[in-house]
Amino acid sequence: MKGPGAVVLVIAVIMAIRIVPYKKQGGAGGRSNNKKEFTWQPPDTMQLSFSEKDALVRYGKDLIAHTSLYLGPKGKIAAVTNGMNCQNCHLNAGTKQWGNNYSAVASTYPKFRERSGTEENSYKRVNDCFQRSLNGFALDTDSHEMQAIVAYINWVGKEVPKGVVPKGSGIKTPAFMQRAADPGRGENIYAQHCRRCHGPEGEGVSNADGSGYLYPPLWGKHSYTTAAGLYRLTRLAGYVRENMPFDASATIRRLTDEEAWDVAAFINAQPRPVKVFKEDWPDIAGKPVDYPFGPYADSFSEQQHKYGPFGPIQLTRKKKSFI
Ligand code: HEC
Ligand code: HEC
Repeated sequence: MKGPGAVVLVIAVIMAIRIVPYKKQGGAGGRSNNKKEFTWQPPDTMQLSFSEKDALVRYGKDLIAHTSLYLGPKGKIAAVTNGMNCQNCHLNAGTKQWGNNYSAVASTYPKFRERSGTEENSYKRVNDCFQRSLNGFALDTDSHEMQAIVAYINWVGKEVPKGVVPKGSGIKTPAFMQRAADPGRGENIYAQHCRRCHGPEGEGVSNADGSGYLYPPLWGKHSYTTAAGLYRLTRLAGYVRENMPFDASATIRRLTDEEAWDVAAFINAQPRPVKVFKEDWPDIAGKPVDYPFGPYADSFSEQQHKYGPFGPIQLTRKKKSFI
């Protein structure tokens, strides 16, 4: 075949080759692969009335944003946590796109989770973060505080149809690197992009009245524990990649994927509170590729499960499990 017909055919073939694999990949990984199309906007707090039900939602938002004020070491209600706020890791009270938001909680819980090997409801999931991320204690399901937190989280996701995980929910996993993440390179990135706020020892900076942090700690005794989600490299790198430095803008650029992996490796190589839940992972084959503690159902080392490269581990898995 010659002439314009051939050109059209060649273009059509090139387009077919290009379009098909792109569609199949559907993003860098993580939860984006099984998302149905749904555009989510956080509801506006101005919609809230002064009814008792809406007052509970408001209180829940306040607890997420200022957890330490109520439940920190000097908390007004009780001393339950390490002084961090839920909002430190769930930005804008859990409403920011790719800022670890809560848009998919109301729509997907209760759900089966590999870590516990059980079906978990939202109360259990919130208590996971209290115990692991905030190095604290579980709240009573019936407590006013727990009821308020869950009322708020359900309100945030109230428009999301059952079973749908909106785009931008949770944490976006950066594309895997071919090599292991490197804490040595990460130390330089930390010095350049993070230390001015989070401090030379990752200790953070308290706010003026000492009720919480202006800049939360990244390691050390007041930080998240070894049982927390952020202790997994994909979670920390993904959170940092999309959200840090906190004042990132056109002039203060965000990190590349590679920089996010390396700085995450540096942070998670530092000491932090150790917490062990013996009942975790009843089926070790369900551990995510980046779960840093053995035993494993595969033959990769703890070192590789902690720092990567994760690609070869992923190849041995039937399904993607980042959560
Ligand atoms: C140190 C960081 C950190 C803090 C502080 C924290 N969380 Fe989390 N939270 C995480 C991470 C990481 C995940 C898992 C995200 C993922 O795997 O995509 C998570 C997940 C969740 C989920 C499940 C979201 C989903 O879509 O499945 C809920 C609900 C939640 N957190 C509530 C809370 C509440 C309430 C607080 C405060 C009491 C809190 N978190 C404090 C890091 C944190
Ligand atoms: C301009 C100040 C600033 C810079 C620079 C900055 N952060 Fe943050 N970071 C914050 C603030 C503020 C929060 C809490 C956000 C909130 O509560 O709304 C935070 C939260 C975090 C969290 C989750 C909470 C925790 O303490 O575990 C991580 C992880 C984090 N930052 C990592 C980094 C990394 C890595 C860098 C460098 C690439 C960085 N940050 C640079 C201000 C900063």
